[in-house]
Amino acid sequence: MNNLSNEPADVRATVKGHARLERNVTLLGLASLVVVAIGGIVEIAPLFWIHNTIEEVEGVRPYTPLEQAGRDIYVREGCYSCHSQMIRPFRDEVERYGHYSLAAESMYDHPFQWGSKRTGPDLARVGGRYSDEWHVQHLVDPQSVVPESVMPQYGFLADTDLQVPDMAANLKALRAVGVPYSDKDIELAMTDLTAQADPEADSGDLAERYPKTQIRDFDGNPSRLTEMDALVAYLQVLGTMVDVNAAAAQEDLAKEKGR
Ligand code: HEC
Repeated sequence: MNNLSNEPADVRATVKGHARLERNVTLLGLASLVVVAIGGIVEIAPLFWIHNTIEEVEGVRPYTPLEQAGRDIYVREGCYSCHSQMIRPFRDEVERYGHYSLAAESMYDHPFQWGSKRTGPDLARVGGRYSDEWHVQHLVDPQSVVPESVMPQYGFLADTDLQVPDMAANLKALRAVGVPYSDKDIELAMTDLTAQADPEADSGDLAERYPKTQIRDFDGNPSRLTEMDALVAYLQVLGTMVDVNAAAAQEDLAKEKGR
């Protein structure tokens, strides 16, 4: 140990105290635990009091029953194994796919579809980029549209009736994990499911409860409600809820204000 006799008394006391701490494993362990716990509490405790860690963005709404049913098919078919839904804030991505994804845009996604596996392109903003006919043709036979495509064919979706035994139960489950479906949304879930793909049907206030909802026949076969209807409805809504340029301007403004 250093010779401490030349040091002031308070320094000597501190060094001695610390020497005892360093030589006693139990004491050192306990002290380390306390120090680490302080850091942990500072980071974790606020999460119990703040309602949301995601900055809300205007336009983000829960999926309609039909879009949600399409999303379930997307997940069932494993589309995520080749497609991501997250545009990263890099120039090459933004130029190819559009404005980078905002956290709020996937806040109602359960399970989320981010990821970096891209055998095919990112789909976060594919909504509105192609016509419904294009999507149907592409899903039935991708190589007829893009000859070198390695995407599998999903023609059976157009021949399979959409069967969702209890859409209300699905929405209820989503509400349990934080998606703000109203009681009315849940009550009308089955009606909404079919009405969105049938322009002849009375869709009630569907478009008010779910702003910007696209109501039409999606698969080119108005007499049937197929899995293709649901999947195309889902693809066509991706990235269309938020006016990203307005949202980006809002974000810049907030930064300027130093928020
Ligand atoms: C084996 C990998 C693979 C799987 C699985 C796959 N895709 Fe693709 N997908 C691709 C590739 C590669 C392309 C690019 C060539 C093309 O357009 O076909 C693509 C393109 C697309 C496009 C056009 C995107 C654009 O911006 O041009 C859409 C939409 C799409 N896929 C949807 C789906 C859906 C929905 C599923 C699930 C039912 C799916 N894909 C499953 C590989 C895949």
